[in-house]
Amino acid sequence: MEKVLEQIHERQGGYVEELGEFLAIPSVSTDPSHAGDVHRCAEYCRDRLSGIGFPDAEVIETDGHPIVLAQWLDAPSSPTVLFYGHYDVQPVDPIELWTTPPFEATVRDGRIFARGSADDKGQVFAHWKAWEAHLAAHGRLPCNVKVLLEGEEEIGSEHLGPFIEKNADRLAADVVMISDSPMFASGVPSLCYGLRGLCYMEIHVQGARSDLHSGSFGGAVANPALALAEILATLKDHERHVAIEGFYDRVLPLSDEERNEFRKLPFDENAYRRELEVPELVGEAGFTTLERVWARPSLDVNGLVSGFTGEGAKTVLPARATAKVSMRLVPDQDPEAVAGFFRRHVESVAPAGVTVEVRKLHGAKPYLAPIDHPANRAARRALGLAFGAETVMTREGGTIPVTTTFQERLGLTSVMMGFGTPDENAHAPDENLALENFHGGVVAAAHFYKEYAEEG
Ligand code: BES
Ligand code: MN
Ligand code: MN
Repeated sequence: MEKVLEQIHERQGGYVEELGEFLAIPSVSTDPSHAGDVHRCAEYCRDRLSGIGFPDAEVIETDGHPIVLAQWLDAPSSPTVLFYGHYDVQPVDPIELWTTPPFEATVRDGRIFARGSADDKGQVFAHWKAWEAHLAAHGRLPCNVKVLLEGEEEIGSEHLGPFIEKNADRLAADVVMISDSPMFASGVPSLCYGLRGLCYMEIHVQGARSDLHSGSFGGAVANPALALAEILATLKDHERHVAIEGFYDRVLPLSDEERNEFRKLPFDENAYRRELEVPELVGEAGFTTLERVWARPSLDVNGLVSGFTGEGAKTVLPARATAKVSMRLVPDQDPEAVAGFFRRHVESVAPAGVTVEVRKLHGAKPYLAPIDHPANRAARRALGLAFGAETVMTREGGTIPVTTTFQERLGLTSVMMGFGTPDENAHAPDENLALENFHGGVVAAAHFYKEYAEEG
């Protein structure tokens, strides 16, 4: 490892600038006007992987955004790691709240700011640099590595599942490695063993055939915005439990053991509250904050649109109102089943005078990994070596849809070794990655492949 670490040390002065090139490509997967950029980003990944020494890196077209696949398989007696990451990013709105432009990476206060810095380009890049250092030092990697990068993670990974099913042989491996989650706190090495799933719905409420003068018609016809508010108000009860029948049917209770483990973590509720600048933390009765975001399901309104939203006043009675509502799911909830419960609930509370339509946008299953996998032990050692601190085990509230596909279709556990921080502003303005953790991430990744080769 000495030579590998030397390589990292020699090269690290150039890492930020090179990462800046990757971050400059606006690969916003949800926006059709960026489809060309998403494609260009896939080609960029392929070219970087070839440059590092992956002989057959390729861009594979799908009916959506392309997949990038590469492999280095010259360690026949060693295990194989399937590395997964995503090169697509979230939209940048509201762009006016960014301190510096989202696609011009800028370093401030020891952090690199750009869309994708933490989620997920910066973290993918850390592994590239680890592979590069191994290949430059020894002309080989300690174990076999298959690289799978997708451009649709932020929009539900629709085309990745079928691709994995069709290419199960090609993707065969011993474990999946993912760096796409935050650390418990900056500098605290963390391994994540659970993610929530997702069920994303839209409610459309239609009133009259068109917007109406609210003086001439107000009082005579239903108001879709108010009708929608009535519907939304029924979704939770006074203790903030989700009030949809069937919703909790398959929720596995938290074990006392796991609750104790969560309680041992150095979580400062007050600091968390102050950091978020909220007057009070609120959530489901009977659970702590960490339990609420890691191991209990939740329901949120992600967007609300109706009527006049410009400056000033317009006396109008809107014709329609829309809400985007998503539910984070925990084992063993099923997104399809939850979508059905949601639909039934909304239809049953629809007020008079409007037409209500419920649509499902996408869903993903929750994921729980076994924590005694040899790759988890290797990752723990690698993190210890890189960060010089004891690794903590976490769950996370976010979703990586493909983790359950890896489990179900390839029988593979995902080891989730993330280097972001809770204040990375993922999906928000001023997304950033702390350089210290990024550099620690490169070193941890470099150690991981070596440690796993020895363990596996
Ligand atoms: N990197 C996140 C997932 C994540 C977030 C893991 C927080 C751990 C903690 C990923 O890019 C993401 O944002 N996923 C989406 C998935 C959805 C669009 C299906 C999410 O969680 O909203
Ligand atoms: Mn991500
Ligand atoms: Mn994301």
